[in-house]
Amino acid sequence: MTAAELPLPPLPRRPRGRSMHLVRERRDALRDQVVAGRPDAVARQHALGKLTARERLDLVLDAGSFTEIEMYRRHQARGMKMSGQAPHTDGVVTGSGTIDGRQVFVYAQDFTIFGGSLGAAHAAKIHKVMDLALAAGAPLIGLNDSGGARIQEGVMALDGYGGIFRRHVEASGVIPQISVILGPCAGGAAYSPALTDFTFMVRDIAQMYLTGPDVVEAVTGERVSHAELGGAQVHAVRSGVASFVHDDEESCLADVRYLVSLLPSNNMEPPLSGPSCGAARDLRPALADIVPADPAKPYDMRSVIGELLDDGDFIEVHEHFAGNVVCVLGRVDGEVVGVVGNQPLVQAGVLDIDASQKAARFVRFCDSFSIPLVTLVDVPGFLPGTGQEFGGVIRHGAKLLYAYCEATVPRISVIVRKAYGGAYIVMDSRSVGTDLSFAWPTNEIAVMGAEGAVNVLFRRELAAAADPERLRAELIDEYTEQLVHPHYAAERGLVDDVIDPATTRIAVARGLAMLRTKRKLAPQRKHGNIPL
Ligand code: HXC
Repeated sequence: MTAAELPLPPLPRRPRGRSMHLVRERRDALRDQVVAGRPDAVARQHALGKLTARERLDLVLDAGSFTEIEMYRRHQARGMKMSGQAPHTDGVVTGSGTIDGRQVFVYAQDFTIFGGSLGAAHAAKIHKVMDLALAAGAPLIGLNDSGGARIQEGVMALDGYGGIFRRHVEASGVIPQISVILGPCAGGAAYSPALTDFTFMVRDIAQMYLTGPDVVEAVTGERVSHAELGGAQVHAVRSGVASFVHDDEESCLADVRYLVSLLPSNNMEPPLSGPSCGAARDLRPALADIVPADPAKPYDMRSVIGELLDDGDFIEVHEHFAGNVVCVLGRVDGEVVGVVGNQPLVQAGVLDIDASQKAARFVRFCDSFSIPLVTLVDVPGFLPGTGQEFGGVIRHGAKLLYAYCEATVPRISVIVRKAYGGAYIVMDSRSVGTDLSFAWPTNEIAVMGAEGAVNVLFRRELAAAADPERLRAELIDEYTEQLVHPHYAAERGLVDDVIDPATTRIAVARGLAMLRTKRKLAPQRKHGNIPL
C-alpha cells in the first residue's frame, strides 16, 4: 500500500466555517503519511544500511530549516503497473533549507519509492529546485539514491535527465553544485555528479557506473561486482570521479556542511572571510624543519599546508586520487583560499596526467567562485615515459597550464624547494600570471637539475677529460652557483622576494590582503577552448 492509498479522514464537500478543521485535519494526516513513508519500505532501506531521504535532509540541513516544495506531486504515467500506484513526492524530496544559517537548495532521492528511479514528475521536481537555486544564487546539493531512468516511463525519463544535465551546465560557475551518492547511481544518471563541482560517496552503499555488472558481463565477458565496478573506493582512487569518500552517511553529510561553510553562495559574492586571527604576524619556525634541504628527500606537503592555514584546518579534495598533487580549501587570516601543492611524498611530487587534471579542475573551481589561490611548489618536472606520452600528457598537462593562465583571482606562489622545467612554468610561475611569487632561500629553479644540465652541455668536454668525474663535479658546482638559486630568479623579477621559511604564513597573509581588491577583466569572448 502506498502513502496515497492509506485511509484518510473524509473531505467535506464544501469546506467552509466549522468544516475547515476537517480540511486541515486531512491535510495534516496526508502530510504525516507522506513524511513517514511506507513502514515496510523504510525498514528495508534501513536494513540495506541506508538512511531515508528525510533522515539525510535532517543531517545535512540546520534543524527545522527545511521547506519542502511539491510534496504532493505524483507521476501521470499509465500502464506497466504504474496506473495503480502514484505515491506523493514521486520518489524525490525537494526544497530549501539552511546550513549554518545560509540558504541552500536540495533534492533527496527516495529509494523507498520506485527505487528512487527518475520519471517525468520526479525530474520536473528536480528541474524546479535547480531553477530556484540558480535564481536565488544559492548552492545546490543533490542526494542521489536511485535505480536510474524509470523504466516504465521510457523516453520521458531520458528527457528528464537531459533537463537536469542542461541545468547543471547552466549553473556551473554560477552556484556551487554538490552531488552526494548514497546508493545506486547508474546509467546516464552518473553524468549528474560528473557535471557538478564536488562528488561525495559513502563506502559500501554508493555505486556509480554507466553500465552495471550484468551488462558488463554480457558485452565483455568480464565478471565484476557492483563495488568493484563503481564503489566509492574505485571512484576515489582510480577514476577520480569522487572528490570525497566517507565510511558512513553521518560523517559524509557533516563534511558536506563543512564544505558549504567554505564556499560563497554564488559567483557574485566575494570569498568568505571571517575575523582576522593575526596571521600577518604569525611566525612558523616549524616550516624549515618540515622541508628537508636535500631535494631528493620526501616530506608531507600537507604538513606545510597545516602550518599556513588557520588552526591547521582544511578539507582535501580528491585526497585518494593523484596523490602527487594536493588540493585543499582552508582559510588564511579568516579568508577562504584554495591551496595547490606538489606532494613529494608521492612519486616525488612529479606532475602527470591525473595530477594535472585534478589540479586544473580545482584551480578552475576556485577561479569561478573568486577564491584566491596559493600554490606551493616543489616539483621535479613532468613524469617521463611512453605511458604518459601515449596517454596524452601534453593535452592533459595543458589543462593545468590553461587553468592557471585564465585564473583572474588573487594568486600567490611559494617555491619551497625546487621547480624544474615545464612544471616550473605550469605551477603558477610569474610568466603564467601569478601576482606574487616567493621563494625559500635554499630552493632550486632551473630548466633541469645540475647533473643533467652538465651532461647535456659538456658531453664532449667530459668525454675528452683526463678525470671526467672531477670535471663533472666542478661544472655542477659552477652551474648550481650561477643558475640554480632563487636570487638568480629574484634579480630578474621572476620572484618577488626570497623569504625566511618561518615567515611564509606572514607573507601569504599580507599578500592576500594586498590583493583583496584585485580586478582583472578578460577580453570579451564566448568561451575559451580549454584542451579537453
Ligand atoms: C523502475 C526501478 C528501477 C528503475 C529499481 N526499481 N530501479 N523501477 N525503474 N530503473 C524498483 C525495483 O523494481 C524495486 O521495485 C525497487 O525499485 C527496489 O529495487 P530492487 O531491485 O529491489 O533493489 P536492489 O536489490 O537494492 O537493487 C537496486 C538496483 C536494481 C541495483 C538499482 O534495482 C537495478 O539494477 N535497477 C535497474 C537499474 C537500471 O538498469 N537502471 C536504468 C539505467 S539506464 P519493487 O516494486 O520491487 O519494490 C539509465 C539511463 C539514463 O538510467 C540515461 C540518462 C541520459
